[in-house]
Amino acid sequence: MIEIKDVYYSYSDAYALNNINLTIEKGEAVAFMGPNGSGKSTLLKLVNGIISPDSGVYKFNDEEITHKKLQDNQFAKLLHRNIGFVFQNSETQLFCSNVYDEIAFGPRQMGLNETEVNKRVNDCLNLLYIQEFKNRTPYHLSGGEQRKVAIACVLSLNPEVLVLDEPMNGLDPRTQRWLVEFLVKLNKAGKTLITSTHNLELVHEISNRSILFDETHTIVADMPTDRLLEDIDLLKKVNLVDQYYHSPVSREMLKCK
Ligand SMILES: Nc1ncnc2c1ncn2[C@@H]1O[C@H](COP(=O)(O)OP(=O)(O)OP(=O)(O)O)[C@@H](O)[C@H]1O
Ligand SMILES: [Mg+2]
Repeated sequence: MIEIKDVYYSYSDAYALNNINLTIEKGEAVAFMGPNGSGKSTLLKLVNGIISPDSGVYKFNDEEITHKKLQDNQFAKLLHRNIGFVFQNSETQLFCSNVYDEIAFGPRQMGLNETEVNKRVNDCLNLLYIQEFKNRTPYHLSGGEQRKVAIACVLSLNPEVLVLDEPMNGLDPRTQRWLVEFLVKLNKAGKTLITSTHNLELVHEISNRSILFDETHTIVADMPTDRLLEDIDLLKKVNLVDQYYHSPVSREMLKCK
């Protein structure tokens, strides 16, 4: 479904993506992990078509996604309909004066009639338990509430792929738990899930495959998430844990003693 081959990208003179090769199949649940500034958000933006490779090839469903194609509004819209993206700072993607219009924006852009739009918006409000926010200004909601609205906006387009950049950041434990279970349900229902996260406690629940970046902006490991969490030396090497870290596995064992 997603094929990335020999991709390089830089915002200015230094590489943000340095020779990335990656294939993701339909229905997978994949997590991007790595230190700050290693390129996770940049690769998510590339997958979503917000940026395109300086060199190398990105294909979605066998079609190459190029800078030229992305300049065609219709093409870009279709891609965003298939690949939903929840930003690292989800508040930056909300711009309407109320939550209803915010969620309705995508379906209206798709040209759906108001009856269908209304149905989709209400389905999403119910799915995320945010009915009471319907008439609120997104800008005045809390960070966690805004994250839910941003997810609702993405789901209103019923995309095949869900891309979430640091979805657990800033959420309280109960909301994190709710979101984990929600994402697992979506993945079980067939959605492809691509997330970036620093959260070693929850990553094994939202992914079964981890792609690990290091400070050279390249992929240094691609392995089952459970195995990554046990490889303390690798996690230390890429600055994902410090010397005091114990893997969830060894912590469990300690509890049993
Ligand atoms: N808009 C931008 N303009 C210039 N440089 C950028 C921009 N966005 C990111 N970068 C640079 O690109 C590199 C990769 O950044 P990116 O945001 O992809 O990292 P990340 O792995 O998501 O980090 P974090 O864990 O902090 O979110 C960094 O060196 C960063 O400084
Ligand atoms: Mg990031």
